[in-house]
Amino acid sequence: MNTTDLGLPMTVPADGLPARVRIHEVGARDGLQNEKATVPTAVKAEFVRRLAGTGLTTIEATSFVHPKWVPQLADAEDLYQAVADLPVALPVLVPNERGLDRALALGARRVAVFASATESFARANLNRTVDEALAMFEPVVRRAKAQDVHVRGYLSMCFGDPWEGAVAVPQVVRVCRALLDMGCDELSLGDTIGVATPGHVTALLAALAGAGVPVSALGVHFHDTYGQALSNTLAALQQGVTTVDASAGGLGGCPYAKSATGNLATEDLVWMLRGLGIDTGIDLGRLVATSVWMAAHLGRPSPSRTVRALSHQEQ
Ligand code: HMG
Ligand code: MG
Repeated sequence: MNTTDLGLPMTVPADGLPARVRIHEVGARDGLQNEKATVPTAVKAEFVRRLAGTGLTTIEATSFVHPKWVPQLADAEDLYQAVADLPVALPVLVPNERGLDRALALGARRVAVFASATESFARANLNRTVDEALAMFEPVVRRAKAQDVHVRGYLSMCFGDPWEGAVAVPQVVRVCRALLDMGCDELSLGDTIGVATPGHVTALLAALAGAGVPVSALGVHFHDTYGQALSNTLAALQQGVTTVDASAGGLGGCPYAKSATGNLATEDLVWMLRGLGIDTGIDLGRLVATSVWMAAHLGRPSPSRTVRALSHQEQ
């Protein structure tokens, strides 16, 4: 038994799981891009600083996208400059060369392009077909790699799509291969609308392994719409995945997919990993305090069960 008065779970390891997981924190980007109200830049910067103080090592900061498409992140330059001194990785989203130019001008060393497995979401999110979007990313990845900048390739709608329904595994594998062949260093498999279940996750990861995609290059990005995000994460860990995206306090969704609700909450993930004896390097108490602080700024309680349990917020 291994508990503390901070309210941590008993640690009871299970077989067949990684010793360590890297959490890719997306709250400041994926979370805040979806807020109705625009959060002031100073509050965002303080959020990122507090997140860095919890032990998180990868904190996605913002997106260099068209400000009309995502007005909540129109302050990308100011925000990035306000946090650039932090000793953590601060990836940013860049959809095209214009976005890459803006990021590189500020010294960004990690960028992410974001593709779709489905035509409907590619059109809604990027105003392109799937293949047109890949063509848009190609010079971004090439130029970033020429400068030794790390490139993540997001892939949305890997399991289901609000317009097209279930998404066939081979469709996802094709776009994953294209992103890797282009030169992306890692991929993040997005369940944008939260419809995945564990067997589906296992089947997709097996198909990717069969297509020669190394599991070490894969991260998972689950949304908790149907309460499946943690089960899906466990299924992914059992297949060898060691990078998991999560959003502090469960903030987020996606402005271009109406049925996308909150991301997997980082606190819920840390609670499970801690219970399994998997190291994340994160101070759960500080993380909960950060999400409570952010929830006060947003004017509503965090949807994370762990935040609520540990902070005694009203249900
Ligand atoms: P478009 O309208 O086709 O753009 O949008 P365009 O290439 O035709 O250019 C039109 C104008 O936009 C031009 O200006 C460009 O300079 C300007 P004008 O000449 O008319 O004055 N422009 C830009 N300005 C600033 N920064 C830029 C930029 N690019 C062009 N980077 C575009 C195409 C890709 C720009 C647009 O669709 C866009 O910005 N989309 C972003 C959507 C987005 O950010 N969605 C959320 C992120 S994805 C997500 O959340 C899912 C994820 O979490 C995983 C999951 O859960 O699935 C990652
Ligand atoms: Mg997302």
